[in-house]
Amino acid sequence: MRVYFDNAATTPLDRAVFEAMLPLMEQQFGNPSSIHWHGREVRSALDRARKTVAGLLNTSPAEIFFTSGGTEADNTALVNSIEAYGLTHAITSPIEHHAVLHTLEFLEKKGKIRLSKVALDESGHVDLACLDDLLRHNPRSLVSLMHGNNEIGNLLDLERVGELCAEHQALFHSDTVQTMGHYRHDLQALKTDFIVGAAHKFHGPKGVGFLYVNANTRIHPFIHGGAQERNQRGGTENVYGIVGLAKALELAYDDMDGHHRLIESLKARMMARLRETIDGVEFNGDSAKLDRSLYTVLNVSFPASDDADMLLFNLDIAKISASGGSACSSGSSVGSHVLTALGTDPARPAVRFSFSKFNTADEVDYVVEKVAALFPKKELA
Ligand SMILES: Cc1ncc(COP(=O)(O)O)c(C=O)c1O
Repeated sequence: MRVYFDNAATTPLDRAVFEAMLPLMEQQFGNPSSIHWHGREVRSALDRARKTVAGLLNTSPAEIFFTSGGTEADNTALVNSIEAYGLTHAITSPIEHHAVLHTLEFLEKKGKIRLSKVALDESGHVDLACLDDLLRHNPRSLVSLMHGNNEIGNLLDLERVGELCAEHQALFHSDTVQTMGHYRHDLQALKTDFIVGAAHKFHGPKGVGFLYVNANTRIHPFIHGGAQERNQRGGTENVYGIVGLAKALELAYDDMDGHHRLIESLKARMMARLRETIDGVEFNGDSAKLDRSLYTVLNVSFPASDDADMLLFNLDIAKISASGGSACSSGSSVGSHVLTALGTDPARPAVRFSFSKFNTADEVDYVVEKVAALFPKKELA
């Protein structure tokens, strides 16, 4: 058996998505900007894809801009809103994805903004009182807080943060890469200015994503060139990627509740089995709380051991793909900035197991058996 438990990094392409993309790679090769028949048929496919995505998110096609993925969508929202609105202050958290953190830190270093990082509680959730306080002292800020953390799975209350931002005339960007296709986003109900998606996180193709920009929010072109994406992003569109993204999101919405139940049961099984078999196993962030974390992510903290550095390597040898990284020990430049911010013990190795609809209970049992073999046998009570 070979097990893929790294679905927060990327997911396998769904067969039906591949089939939806194929005609665009074979017969329908026109440039969607061309006005002739070959161009028009591809333009229609592009328009349909935008309509599908907008429909699923309960918003209008004019608010969806296709990009090369989550990173570009995050960069576009952050750089653009600061520039278009002349904002001078941004608020984020220390556990954002680097697509957000590095972008804001770059803008801070350039002297374009002051950057504040909101405090977190002991399990890594945003301290909303601290956010409120920061907003009170810095109205008209840009707030960027992720919906689901890609390492520890912690979920943010998007509704509440949206309300707070609206109260203080702040723009609100949320990196929704890990929740897109796994949770429903009703953009009529949410008070967000920007959210993002990356197709490869929900069984779509790599290198394609989108940025939602609320119709009331102004942005400037991010990539200058042709008139594609309503003058906001020049360059011939990744048409097969976009068609694949829309198909993947459609499939995700078709049976979201079923997938949620299945994947959550795998996560719960894995937690229970690990607790049964390994002494001193813990879960990082709020990963163990099923209602406060992504059902797709389980971040496990293992007891310190002489082989701690070899854990992921040993899993790979046992034909298990997972990812991880402990907190940075002082002086070390590598490690997880998320676990470091949470103050987790750098001596304890951490592994992120992340699941998809293609995983099974047998795979969970196989992984637990192999992992348990790397640690001393648990004494029976
Ligand atoms: C939370 C989050 N944001 C942004 C990204 C970047 O997405 P992409 O690799 O599609 O650019 C990722 C991917 O790992 C992610 O998990």
